[in-house]
Amino acid sequence: MRLIVDTDGGIDDAVALLMVLAHSNTTLEAVTTVFGNVPLAQAIQNVKTILDVAQAPPVSIYKGCDQPLLRYQTLDAKDIHGDDGLGGASQAESERPMEAEHAALALIQLAEQYSGQIDLLTLGPLTNLALAVRLEPRIFRYFNRIVLMAGAVDIRGNTSAAAEFNIMADPEAAHIVFDAFQKSYIQPQLISWETTLAHPLTPEGWTRMIEGETPVARLVQHMDIHLNERRLLYKEPNVLWPDPLAAAVLCEPNSVLDQEIRFIEVETGHTITRGQTLVDYRRLSSQRPNARIVRRVDKQQFRQLLRMAVQM
Ligand code: RIB
Ligand code: CA
Repeated sequence: MRLIVDTDGGIDDAVALLMVLAHSNTTLEAVTTVFGNVPLAQAIQNVKTILDVAQAPPVSIYKGCDQPLLRYQTLDAKDIHGDDGLGGASQAESERPMEAEHAALALIQLAEQYSGQIDLLTLGPLTNLALAVRLEPRIFRYFNRIVLMAGAVDIRGNTSAAAEFNIMADPEAAHIVFDAFQKSYIQPQLISWETTLAHPLTPEGWTRMIEGETPVARLVQHMDIHLNERRLLYKEPNVLWPDPLAAAVLCEPNSVLDQEIRFIEVETGHTITRGQTLVDYRRLSSQRPNARIVRRVDKQQFRQLLRMAVQM
């Protein structure tokens, strides 16, 4: 299946991209870039680094939004991913060209061109997708599957008490996107922060997994030095992979063992719950559901896909 990945260029985005590239049944048709973990220009450079180190064939790369729709604040996650977004492993030089079209327009054009034969995986703030939806409200109907890494569905926020980073970075964009899912009768699969927490790796298991001499293994080892420092600093006992978990669900749909269909609304106010993805678990709102919250993924399959990604 053809795939578009929308990414904000962090370390877990990189591992997710490697997984997609290593997966035999997935053809990476395009990468659209967005601000988020790092500024847009750095996210673009990081995508090129990953594609180069993985010796990927030519992939269309599109420049997207460099700030949220309403610029109340532009967050980043350099603290977690490092100033360059790849824990110091980003490479400034690449021969890979950029496409001229804006990412939002490319999302529409590619969806229409490959209608029914293309999937979408979003790994960052939903700003590009929100613009695309405003330009073409029917866009979701053209995709075969849509998987998002986004949201804190049980108020286990990682950026504020209520909000997960990809939503918090642009709550207005997320509101537009979830509202459009509802209006389109489309329910994307959602890998939330809580889904991520439920599928940790042990540091020992992860360290064994990334042993090796290939250029990709070396790159992942380099990125992990920074991540490991952060894990120790924040006393995080586990190795957490949000974007790769979303990529695994995209690549292997049968890896999903449990999911629940619910209505989600995004808080765009300016109170302590800004960016919250509020889930109507008891169906009190009578609103049509707009998301399939993935709760359980086959851990063996996930680890196998991760191993394939970091050893490619
Ligand atoms: O909250 C985790 C998400 O925010 C991941 O996509 C990570 O890369 C950051 O973008
Ligand atoms: Ca990301």
